[in-house]
Amino acid sequence: MSLLNILRYPDPRLHKIAKPVTTFDARLKRLVDDMAETMYDAPGVGLAASQVDVHQQLIIIDTSDTRSDLRIFINPQIVWASPERSVYEEGCLSVPGVYDGVERHTEVKVKALDVEGKPFELAAIGLLAVCVQHEMDHLKGKVFVEYLSSLKRNRIKAKMLKEEREMHRDNRHSTAR
Ligand code: NI
Repeated sequence: MSLLNILRYPDPRLHKIAKPVTTFDARLKRLVDDMAETMYDAPGVGLAASQVDVHQQLIIIDTSDTRSDLRIFINPQIVWASPERSVYEEGCLSVPGVYDGVERHTEVKVKALDVEGKPFELAAIGLLAVCVQHEMDHLKGKVFVEYLSSLKRNRIKAKMLKEEREMHRDNRHSTAR
């Protein structure tokens, strides 16, 4: 297994549209393993393949306290969404250090395939429902900050770009030593 590089907002590759997975092979299992290792290491509760620059419809989620309940959704589709909506404070591994409230469906029913290509359905509520909607957005090229006002989004963009410049500068310094 290996850690994958997580794209940082506003990397334009985060806005690519993911294609359905059609081959359920060892390569796919390896990708799932690497994504899980990357998510647990970060640490985060969810990761979409889009965030590691693989533009296929694959998301993983683990909302358990024990970090032992990995859920894998391939080609996920929301088949039902509650009319009730709730606001939840969200964060994203592609936008580290930024948290803000986003309104989403309180409950959703998702249809997806597992890593073997077998279909399943899951009713999600609470944090799991938030994660499913957040990660599925990534597959459509959407990052949660796009739900915020343009004023907030521009501030976040500027903060992220500044951090990136500082990281590059620090890297240069450390390699020069
Ligand atoms: Ni995210």
